[in-house]
Amino acid sequence: MTTFSLVTLSIFTILAIVRYQKEIINWSTNILTRIGLLKNVAADDPSNVKRLAPYPAQPIRGRKQYRVMMDIRRMDSQNWLTLDKNYMEEHRVRDHLLREKKSEVLRCLPESLESCHEALEEVSEFLCQRFPNMFRKVSENNQDLIENCMTGEKFDLGRSVSGGIDTDALEAAVRLTMEDLSILMLNDEGEYYLAASASLFPTGWTVKERIGWTISRMHEPVPLWHQQVANSVSKFLARLTPNSPMERSNYFVEVKRPDENLFEILYRPGALCEKELNNPLPEEIIIRRERQTFRRLPRTEAIVFGVKTYLTTLDQLPMQELENLVTEMKSWPEHVSEYKGKHVWSEKVLEFYNRRKDASSADTKEKIEV
Ligand code: HEM
Repeated sequence: MTTFSLVTLSIFTILAIVRYQKEIINWSTNILTRIGLLKNVAADDPSNVKRLAPYPAQPIRGRKQYRVMMDIRRMDSQNWLTLDKNYMEEHRVRDHLLREKKSEVLRCLPESLESCHEALEEVSEFLCQRFPNMFRKVSENNQDLIENCMTGEKFDLGRSVSGGIDTDALEAAVRLTMEDLSILMLNDEGEYYLAASASLFPTGWTVKERIGWTISRMHEPVPLWHQQVANSVSKFLARLTPNSPMERSNYFVEVKRPDENLFEILYRPGALCEKELNNPLPEEIIIRRERQTFRRLPRTEAIVFGVKTYLTTLDQLPMQELENLVTEMKSWPEHVSEYKGKHVWSEKVLEFYNRRKDASSADTKEKIEV
């Protein structure tokens, strides 16, 4: 072999590795897991999901000056979709919503159907590779199915040949995931709009009301959104490619009634903080975080928007984050405070923060004296 062909072969190999790195990593992870050299987090038994810690949510930063931020970063692609110990409990809520309130939480406009199918394919592919003990592809009666080994459910990956309805593919996708999923498409004016959505855990809105809305219209109630980020969001969505998935995080503060269950906490089509609940206990104040992911589908070129909801009560919040929450809430202008329901919970947050601060400085003093 000549030096020239050796160099060409090496360059070709390096290019192929770079181009197919994701596939190579997934393939080798699967082989190593199968032959037992690499222990999968949830090896052997689907019930091991109960031991998986949630994907870490973005901490509250403690910004001293309020500004609506895009705050996007490259997506952690290995964790586009996540599983954790809350899977079964939340799955029961999702199942209940899809049975009892399907028309409120799930809509697919006709033009989105191809993208909804592509989203289901991508979701299935990802889950079977990432969590091979929880999800697997099976073939029954000439149908390709995905099986959820934790719940025993099976979903058809084919094209509604058996008389399925338009929402089937997106429904299957969000019955598999812990994330809510939406499909964003471009309208004739070049704006992205909500073409399909399965948003089971919404924050003050419903899919039934907002299906077909542009992203810009969707954010009309959000103070300063149009002045501060609307243009950047349009540019960001237009530039998104299948190879550059992105993510961002958001948090809301929610106040729950003492007797509210997980269903009522997660499914919040109305206000997150009702005015009459202005004397909440720390465990009734919930920091509700959303991890939002943006992924362009390679075939239909629509965008899949994923939202994973995380709940942390005030009393579970680490001290540094509690301090950061206090810093941020103090920076909000009046109309932003009004939008975020601050008057309902801020006094109690401050009281709780001061109590914890006093307790920890008394603790430190005691240690020094000892
Ligand atoms: C980079 C893109 C995006 C940015 C920067 C963004 C930003 C925001 C912000 C800052 C809020 C207010 C939250 C708060 O501070 O209390 C908000 C609310 C909201 N966002 Fe987004 N968002 C983005 C994409 C989307 C997309 C794709 C959807 C599609 C479903 C969406 C749906 C909503 C809804 C429904 C609300 C609540 C609005 C209301 O109060 O009625 N967002 N968003």
